Amino acid sequence: MDVIRIEGGHRVTGEVRVEGAKNSALKLMAATIMAPGVSRLTNVPNISDVHVMGKVLKRLGATVTVVDEHTLDIDTSGVNSWRTPYELVVQMRASTAVLGPLISRFGQAVVAMPGGCNIGARNIDMHIFGLEALGVQFDFAHGYINGTTPDGLHSNFITLEFASVGATENLMMASVYAPGTTVIDNAAREPEIVDLANLLNEMGAKVRGAGSPLIEIEGVRGPLHPVTHAVVGDRIEAGTFAAIGALTSDPVYVRGFDPAHLGLVLKKYQQMGITVEKKPDGCVVSRERPLTPVDIQTLPYPGFPTDMQAQTMVLAALGDGDCIITENVFENRFMLAAELCRMGADIRIEGHHALVHGVKRLSGAEVASPDLRGGAALVMAGLVADGYTTVSQIHHIMRGYEHFTDKLQALGAHVELLSLPDPTEDDA
Ligand code: UD1
Repeated sequence: MDVIRIEGGHRVTGEVRVEGAKNSALKLMAATIMAPGVSRLTNVPNISDVHVMGKVLKRLGATVTVVDEHTLDIDTSGVNSWRTPYELVVQMRASTAVLGPLISRFGQAVVAMPGGCNIGARNIDMHIFGLEALGVQFDFAHGYINGTTPDGLHSNFITLEFASVGATENLMMASVYAPGTTVIDNAAREPEIVDLANLLNEMGAKVRGAGSPLIEIEGVRGPLHPVTHAVVGDRIEAGTFAAIGALTSDPVYVRGFDPAHLGLVLKKYQQMGITVEKKPDGCVVSRERPLTPVDIQTLPYPGFPTDMQAQTMVLAALGDGDCIITENVFENRFMLAAELCRMGADIRIEGHHALVHGVKRLSGAEVASPDLRGGAALVMAGLVADGYTTVSQIHHIMRGYEHFTDKLQALGAHVELLSLPDPTEDDA
């Protein structure tokens, strides 16, 4: 059983460079399906979710060559299957990002239904309704979504019920060749959507308005051509290290991302008494005053990201006062709270609100990562807790943070990755 063990109370300061964004890299990898030939992606994070997407592409017939730790050559000329099996989708829900590109290139796709996961139900109804509006016909059987386009694809005006990141991306990719102009209204505006639109345009697509709520895709005659593209910096990895600087108080210079992509997070952190100095390639975060809790509500970009909610809950848990954190994006993303309470936090959950009453200190404990960001947040908490904190279920953390413990050690943190005997295994 792999765990991360943290000895709290050590000085954490220095520079840390973040990798390319997980949530962009996965979609860019899927998008290479649409441009037969060899596309090169640089600044790709070396994390387990990227490895799973590599397996998905290989299963479809692509060749994925690791040029160096952060560079992948993806040859999609040999893609000859449009079936993404359950065993891969169950490992990573974002495998469904191949739905749009497969429909676009082959007019068909068979993708296992993702089902629920531990941060909520995560339906894909908006993907399906949007694709149907473009002419895709769906059949659901044996746990698979089977999409076909017997009459071809056509453009349409699609209003999303909610600015879903995944639905916006799948629709943007599926409509690239659809004759006419497709409009996605109430589109997600995340920087990763802009990165995907940029890649598609470099490949020869005509996508306008990405980053705004109205995206227009003018159908082009295919095929798109392969390109070389650098993945945008990971604002959530950056935000995690910014939160670490805020928590531990000595300056942490987080490099490798655009601080504008963390606009509201950094503004809220300033309201919490945290010092934020923006730089062209990142920001420096430190703190001289007690943490003043402020209310937070998660919303689609440019709102406060749900992916920064857990890390910010750790700050609030040690704040000088009370605050309310409201989770509006995923219905089950407060599982961290129970683990933090085991460390001495005072947090009450009421539906999609967390009522956080700041405490003076946390005490090290054995805790389990509930999910990716919750896991990182527990390691963060361990940095300032009394004594030792042991975080288990760290495969969640590995999904999205490259060399997490190495980066923390380089900042001076006392963290180590350990393999312990599994206490639940019967040794009789
Ligand atoms: C992406 C990110 C995830 C981030 C989230 C919100 C990736 C790989 N993951 O997830 O890290 O937390 O955006 O910023 O990019 N929903 C529906 N029906 C749909 C689609 C979504 O009900 O068809 C719901 C989901 O259950 C969820 C909410 O809408 O409650 C937001 O989902 P969405 O924006 O689609 O997130 P993902 O793309 O899954």
